[in-house]
Amino acid sequence: MKLHTIYWPPEREEAGIREAAAALAAGGVVAFPTETVYGLGGDARSVEAAERIFAAKGRPSDNPLIVHLADAKDADALAGPIGELERKLMAAFWPGPLTLVLPVRPGAVSARVTAGLDTVAVRVPGHELARRLIAAAGCPIAAPSANRSGRPSPTLARHVLEDLDGRIDGVLDGGPTGVGLESTVVRVVDGTVHVLRPGGVTAEQLREAAGAGAKVVAAGEGPSGDRVNNETGAGSEASEAPRSPGVKYTHYAPRGRMTLIAADDPARLRSGVQDAADAAGRSGAKVGILACAEHAGFYRADAVLTLGSRERPEQAAQALYAALRQCDERGLEAIFAESFPEKGIGAALMNRMLKASGGRIVRV
Ligand code: TXA
Ligand code: MG
Repeated sequence: MKLHTIYWPPEREEAGIREAAAALAAGGVVAFPTETVYGLGGDARSVEAAERIFAAKGRPSDNPLIVHLADAKDADALAGPIGELERKLMAAFWPGPLTLVLPVRPGAVSARVTAGLDTVAVRVPGHELARRLIAAAGCPIAAPSANRSGRPSPTLARHVLEDLDGRIDGVLDGGPTGVGLESTVVRVVDGTVHVLRPGGVTAEQLREAAGAGAKVVAAGEGPSGDRVNNETGAGSEASEAPRSPGVKYTHYAPRGRMTLIAADDPARLRSGVQDAADAAGRSGAKVGILACAEHAGFYRADAVLTLGSRERPEQAAQALYAALRQCDERGLEAIFAESFPEKGIGAALMNRMLKASGGRIVRV
């Protein structure tokens, strides 16, 4: 059945929240902005709502959903026992882009939402519109990113409509999302914070909040702190670290073939990118380059898309997914992207760029 998707523009915010909350309470699925990316929400207790989310996205059903709450105090109804370190992280980062994987209280949410696991991923989004919607719906809201599976996550309401129009009940437009990449997913085991997916909260911020007594193991590092991941970002099967089912799926891929180019020296990076773009152009491909603002003017290609300043990785984080969608809109067949320094949010940015490139990275 093709649905008529209701679009609530920013000037209809009040009515939008009211109508969207009613749709959610009735088992519908509605997209809404969060501070990271747009989510596709449904009542986390409802089997039917969860099934509609998976169907609309075309998402494999063994990949569990994050449950969103309006208020941190609602977490105890869903999950427990919640340890001291976990509470410390909640106090430090909620509302905000941190998702905690916690032991689920049996029956608190649909088993479709947890994909049958004995844990549930929970967060309180740092976007007022999201929290008002969840509070008005009066139930925990399961919400993956509101894109078709395999497409970049939406950072604008328009992206949601591009992917899901006719498949969902509605979308609340809150303008562009702030962070632009998904939340950081963590799980605490024996006093160690394991980052299952890097995101809006950086490893540095987690270390500071967790305090001296706790260890933070970044995504791609084993319990000893050694890197166990290869450059594709795929985890080592031998790793003992807890894993996030979603990270095994290909994500965020533009239709064109994307390659990341890395170099320590900026001049070398520029010539490496331009040489690769020229070679692809000679073989007849329509070529695009994703570059930092400082280098964009240097390049010649069919399209040069600027991600943001090299000194401000949060700008590139905010711009990446829209740029990947533009690559498709412009029909780019070969895309060369500059790598970014992996400090702060740069780590999450590079994680997503590597996924978009299917792990292709060339050091020049
Ligand atoms: O920023 C975000 O987190 C966005 C917005 C909408 O909140 N949501 C989002 O959801 O990115 P999704 O479904 O696209 O990603 C959820 C991630 C997946 O990698 C999934 O495997 C992991 O969280 N996850 C969910 N439940 C889990 C669990 N019980 N244990 C381990 N990982 C879990
Ligand atoms: Mg997603």
